[in-house]
Amino acid sequence: MKNAELLELFEIAAAVRENAYAPYSKFKVGAALLDDTGVVHAGCNVEVANYKGGTCAEGTAIAKMISSGKGPHRIKAIVIVGGGDEPCAPCGDCRQFINEFADANTRIYAQDPATGMISSTTMKKLLPAAFGPNSLAAKP
Ligand code: THU
Repeated sequence: MKNAELLELFEIAAAVRENAYAPYSKFKVGAALLDDTGVVHAGCNVEVANYKGGTCAEGTAIAKMISSGKGPHRIKAIVIVGGGDEPCAPCGDCRQFINEFADANTRIYAQDPATGMISSTTMKKLLPAAFGPNSLAAKP
């Protein structure tokens, strides 16, 4: 992926992060993903008063990708911008969710808020030995 494209994804993720509804954790997160047709989908976290029913930014972005139709969709790259002092790592549920539409080598990007340094990892590193769509392939 080109550097300019990646920086644009970070800008979009940072912008959508401002829309987060996180009155309980106060931890705003934005995510922007590039799908395999070149379209960007972005989302923020949305919390609820019972705490357990909220949606993560990554899930919102993926739901928007699927809702846009024109699938099947694959995630080419996803960028996550959170709060705090460290690059925002996707939570366990998000790893599973991203994996549903990603490949082993799909890159997940984050940025160190202190230095601005961008780092990336791969789906297979974030979720080794994943249980995914292929795990459900019918067996005789
Ligand atoms: N959160 C995300 O949106 N994505 C992640 O990968 C980590 C956590 C949200 C969930 C909750 O609204 C807040 O951050 C604090 O956990």
